[in-house]
Amino acid sequence: MSLPKKVKLVEVGPRDGLQNEAKPVATEAKIELIHRLQDAGLPVIQATSFVSPKWVPQLADNAQVMAGIRKKPGVNYPVLVPNRKGLDAAIAAGCKEVVIFGAATEAFSKKNTNCTIAEGIARFSEVAHVALEHGMKIRGDMSVCLGCPYEGEVDPQAVANLAREFDQLGCYEIDIADTIGTGTPGSTKRVIEAVARHIAIDRLSIHMHDTYGMAIANIYAALECGIATFDSSVAGLGGCPYAKGATGNVATEDVLYLLDGLGIETGVDMQQLIAAGDYICGVLGRPTYSRAARAIAAKLAA
Ligand code: HMG
Ligand code: MG
Repeated sequence: MSLPKKVKLVEVGPRDGLQNEAKPVATEAKIELIHRLQDAGLPVIQATSFVSPKWVPQLADNAQVMAGIRKKPGVNYPVLVPNRKGLDAAIAAGCKEVVIFGAATEAFSKKNTNCTIAEGIARFSEVAHVALEHGMKIRGDMSVCLGCPYEGEVDPQAVANLAREFDQLGCYEIDIADTIGTGTPGSTKRVIEAVARHIAIDRLSIHMHDTYGMAIANIYAALECGIATFDSSVAGLGGCPYAKGATGNVATEDVLYLLDGLGIETGVDMQQLIAAGDYICGVLGRPTYSRAARAIAAKLAA
């Protein structure tokens, strides 16, 4: 199959990235990061989560972040919601798109959302119903599709089953996440093929964490399967607080370097993206995890 000509990049740094930072990040800095990312051309920015602040205190300022964003026409700002309470808060904050999230294994479901997979789906059926009534879009994110920190290997069929549930709830897009970054190109293709038997490939997205350094290879494998939507995180920020040892998401700069090199259109400007990464790394007081950003900075300094 030929590679897609255009790719949609979904920036998850402000949500997946900052949910995992030990040091609190000021609300103003989160808003500034989102502004810089949208100015760099990112069409979708996961802005925050309306989850329990007892579980993820880093994103307790969700409503203030949403209120502070200078919304750019054409950009979507989805937020994660785990239940009806989160949805109601997201509606009150004026959100137009929500992300519901589940896991392909029972153990991860319990650790991340304190419920079984089936209980999660039951919760989300009410969330989805109300969200659709409000004219919102819903995306479904599926964790631990390529390995689980508690159960080990994951059967692609378990991922396909969850995808079918999310499809029935009305998700327009379904995300296959490698939460702990253990996937390889072969296992990535196998899980995509299992899910694509039920859901059209243009409704699937891929969300790679780069723990084993496989993320770019896996993204290339996914491109070969026809996937054209990828989650990534500026400067490689991120991780899941309930997946110990998992590093950040693949860096948006590294994915963009791959796509630019393949001549695939994204609408994202590398220099502005690197500047957004430098900004948040300055706030966090540490260097970028993006290899492309480091290499480009070194070349410019030479
Ligand atoms: P629980 O403790 O079973 O729920 O948590 P609860 O209903 O008993 O609520 C506990 C307290 O939280 C109560 O407060 C609730 O009111 C409050 P109290 O009465 O004790 O004062 N609460 C809320 N507050 C604000 N907003 C809400 C909300 N819900 C409850 N929405 C629950 C169950 C699902 C709420 C919890 O487990 C939770 O919030 N989990 C979210 C964990 C999370 O955000 N993980 C990271 C995101 S997923 C991810 O990163 C993976 C992804 O990137 C893909 C990948 O890489 O795999 C997407
Ligand atoms: Mg993630």
